[in-house]
Amino acid sequence: MNSTDRDERLRRQRDAGKLTARERIDLLFDPGTFEEIDALVEHRCRDFGMAEQIVPGDGVVCGHGRVNGRLTYAFAQDFTVFGGSLSETNAAKIVKIMDLALKMGAPIIGLNDSGGARIQEGVVSLAGYADIFLRNTLASGVVPQISAIMGPCAGGAVYSPAITDFTIMVKNTSYMFVTGPDVIRTVTHEDVTKDELGGAMTHNEKSGVAHFAVENDEECLLLVRELLSFMPNNNVEDAPHAECTDPIDRADEALDRIVPESPAQAYDMGDVIRAVVDDAYLLEVHEHFAKNILVGFARLGGRSVGVVANQPAHLAGTLDIDASVKGARFVRFCDAFNIPLVTFEDVPGFLPGTVQEWGGIIRHGAKLLFAFAEATVPKVTVITRKAYGGAYCVMSSKHIRTDVNYAWPGAEIAVMGAEGAVNILYKRELEAAGDAAAAANADAVRAARITEYREKFANPYIAAQRGYVDEVIQPRQTRAKLIGALAALETKRDRNPPKKHGNIPL
Ligand code: HXC
Repeated sequence: MNSTDRDERLRRQRDAGKLTARERIDLLFDPGTFEEIDALVEHRCRDFGMAEQIVPGDGVVCGHGRVNGRLTYAFAQDFTVFGGSLSETNAAKIVKIMDLALKMGAPIIGLNDSGGARIQEGVVSLAGYADIFLRNTLASGVVPQISAIMGPCAGGAVYSPAITDFTIMVKNTSYMFVTGPDVIRTVTHEDVTKDELGGAMTHNEKSGVAHFAVENDEECLLLVRELLSFMPNNNVEDAPHAECTDPIDRADEALDRIVPESPAQAYDMGDVIRAVVDDAYLLEVHEHFAKNILVGFARLGGRSVGVVANQPAHLAGTLDIDASVKGARFVRFCDAFNIPLVTFEDVPGFLPGTVQEWGGIIRHGAKLLFAFAEATVPKVTVITRKAYGGAYCVMSSKHIRTDVNYAWPGAEIAVMGAEGAVNILYKRELEAAGDAAAAANADAVRAARITEYREKFANPYIAAQRGYVDEVIQPRQTRAKLIGALAALETKRDRNPPKKHGNIPL
């Protein structure tokens, strides 16, 4: 590649709104800490005129450096060299740093910007992808893996980010799909643009393939750095403690009034979480997907925690297929990396309907149950309002090994809501009403039964009497209580029976 050609490719990269691979690496790592590996590696392809086109490094920048002072490995595909396509040698470079990261117990960051398998090389480039997929799988749960999609990521190439823990997509410049718009037009006659098919918002809102959407490359790399600050470098370390200047015993009185009087009225669980965590800061994961459950990272007394919360402001906080899968994946990440789980619960149950039943809510819902049940990290739950039916069991209940379970005084822990329960229990009595007078009487009976049911079950005290709830706390105490509980759980050691692996209902 001559220098004019190189300049032209760089111009195209910039015109597309993208930084170069090296600029990205510079922003990812602490200044001056990056050590490049294999900068002189060349491809070995002699076909299709490739012998005359040698670019040292072969289209990917690989190495290690420090992120927030901690060892981190990364590769950055260089779209200006053969479209960042993956060759035999280019894949070998990526594999080398993945192997080193695994040995060193350090995170692996992939900055993806590639046309996929290098077409001129055929099966050896496919083999390179498979070599990477294997490392992604072996590294899963051992070191954190984050994929930033900063350009094309198509075909089988998508399966590397898909295996990693978090995927960030840059709006307008990145896309991911297994088959592109042209093939789709031929096969299914659907007309769809690249962005509609696999752009950042498509994968953040519709498919859930991506966890974050960002405006540009700079924001993307800052987010990678921030995400890493919440997690340990590997599965035998703890996440770094941050300095906490937010008072531990800060009591937010607004929390005492945040849950509306009417059980049918919504409120924003995000407000509850922000009122409780350090500096009101929650880094939401999967913000645009399955909004009826909210997951993300926060700190409590400087400790990194994974927050899982029902969101009454969307679908009344019911659990559906997407919410179950979203929650389960996040819980498993936190469990794998020793990050305590804090659950805020207000759940009326699983979402009813044929779409959910036929879509497999039974097996998908079971994923969340399985994930919470197998998690051995410190687990603390706060029931803010409803904890109904199977969803009560699923949402980190005492029965599935949650260490500390709190409930606010207005919590309702029951098999179902009062209206539904009365309609079932007193069905015959209520249906017997024939004329208008009898109907009026039936309404009065129903109202009386609902009140009776509420008095009996719509409170946390029966659960507290049995020890299923450890303590009924005032909402304003939540921050201090959670920080105290997490401090007490710091030395927790729990394990599952020896096995090759469990069989989570995939
Ligand atoms: C070799 C490639 C390449 C590839 C792009 N280039 N993709 N070279 N192998 N896979 C080269 C182009 O020839 C071009 O070289 C330069 O990179 C820039 O590409 P452009 O097409 O000019 O860029 P743009 O218009 O932005 O389009 C980007 C693109 C397009 C949409 C990614 O290049 C494209 O469709 N590429 C092929 C994508 C693909 O089908 N890949 C295989 C997917 S299957 P020059 O020298 O002209 O500048 C796969 C299997 C993985 O990856 C299997 C895992 C199991």
